[in-house]
Amino acid sequence: MSAPCFVTTPIYYVNDKPHIGHAYTTIAADVYARAMRLAGRDVFFMTGTDEHGQKVEQSAAKAGISPQAFTDAVSQNFRDLAARLNISNNAFIRTTEPRHYKACQALWQRLEERGHIYLGSYAGWYSVRDEAYYQESELIDGKAPTGAPVEWVEEPSYFFRLSAFQEPLLKLYADNPDFIAPSSRRNEVMRFVEGGLKDLSVSRTTFSWGVPVPGNPAHIMYVWLDALTNYLTVLGYPEKTPDFSTFWPASLHLVGKDIVRFHAVYWPAFLMAAELPVPKRVFAHGWWTNEGQKISKSVGNVIDPIALIEQYGVDPVRYFLMREVPFGGDGDFAHAAVQRRLNKDLADDYGNLCQRVLAFIQKNAGAAVPLMGNVNELDNEILGKAYCLNELMFTHIEVQAYSKALELFNELVAAANGYVDKEAPWALKKTNPERMGTVLAVLLEVIRCAAICLQPFTPALAGQVLDQLAVPLDARTFGHASDSGALKPGTPLPAPQPLVKKWSEA
Ligand code: MSP
Repeated sequence: MSAPCFVTTPIYYVNDKPHIGHAYTTIAADVYARAMRLAGRDVFFMTGTDEHGQKVEQSAAKAGISPQAFTDAVSQNFRDLAARLNISNNAFIRTTEPRHYKACQALWQRLEERGHIYLGSYAGWYSVRDEAYYQESELIDGKAPTGAPVEWVEEPSYFFRLSAFQEPLLKLYADNPDFIAPSSRRNEVMRFVEGGLKDLSVSRTTFSWGVPVPGNPAHIMYVWLDALTNYLTVLGYPEKTPDFSTFWPASLHLVGKDIVRFHAVYWPAFLMAAELPVPKRVFAHGWWTNEGQKISKSVGNVIDPIALIEQYGVDPVRYFLMREVPFGGDGDFAHAAVQRRLNKDLADDYGNLCQRVLAFIQKNAGAAVPLMGNVNELDNEILGKAYCLNELMFTHIEVQAYSKALELFNELVAAANGYVDKEAPWALKKTNPERMGTVLAVLLEVIRCAAICLQPFTPALAGQVLDQLAVPLDARTFGHASDSGALKPGTPLPAPQPLVKKWSEA
């Protein structure tokens, strides 16, 4: 039996409409989930919305509607975005669901029973925009290190004994070097924890939009304790459901670099305190700027993912975001870069390879898979590359090195285009039709393996190529991207359709 795999996106705040950052995290998690499925793993992949807290309460008030009506509407936008991005999640969670209240309260009670929560009072800085507490020493020019405004808060509050978890957390990081990635984030988190941990305020009394503390409903749970618990709720916690026993602990929490502390410090501390297993890995990706500028609502340069999809199509957007920037680093979004990248990789290289080979077979080789026959060294070399692409790409995807995985795809495609030019099947038509068949059959195998491996990134485009190769739906797993899944000679091939549009670059 293959290992089960639970992969998550953050649950998104519903204070505003979705932007490119949300799309980015979600696509990256989808690539992972799809790749794991193609490798035969049993995958549970969730996304959802984080609907409580002061920030959402304030946004609803500003819109002049109740928080419930407000969150219903905005949450739907995130569900729609996932559908538009062709995300393969098998669950969508909202923190306003009754099952989630139950999970939060059960976790709280578990923490309380084990002596990790006590009542005290909080006096300090809070940022509603970040939904985070800050120490005086962290402030820069009277603002949060993120630039968000802070306010002074003084109120009775429950505390979680985070200070008791400094050593267990450091041990967790030391024993599991892959727990936080990339390593720059790991170092940052370790430095933070080494610097000492203060107990964490985990309830508020000055607003009401949230999960009430069991036994003391004047207190509302801190929105991050509530939000993080969603990863348990979605599996059925606190019931001992089959999903929970199969899929917990999470294999991968995919997050942005701004929320790594919550996932890599608070979350494992809560779980250790509750005596529940901790996730296996937290990967924090970088941030996008827009044509060199920090993205911000006040500047008005927020990138709307729906508009992008409408302009370029879903798969091109997915491809660009995963290919352009090494995952984990920051990146700049520029239309000129999108067009350059799409034209080069998808139109000129892969699209063109498919088009020239398929159109040629259609016209000159009986519109069917040719017999491969005798292969020479050169054929074997490129076939060998095609048949190991799945494993090589998977090795990178497993550690979220998505752009590296796609580079391997690009390299194979470039090699195949070189092979077409060199072997010139059009010239062989009259002189050596048998050799022509061999060359075309080899190329079909390369195109097929490349398409199989491209599926996690651009599922529709890859599916279209596989359709054009008449590859049955049940022969498209990573395992099939080897000679065991080779196309059968004589299989009729449909008339090729154009695959990728070319952009006139700015
Ligand atoms: N609700 C919390 C997460 C709770 S998870 C238990 C939250 N929500 S969010 O809506 O603010 O999520 C934003 C996600 O989008 C984060 O992963 C963040 O890193 C990402 N991005 C926001 N702006 C971004 C860019 N400009 N670029 C890339 N990702 C960015 O945090």
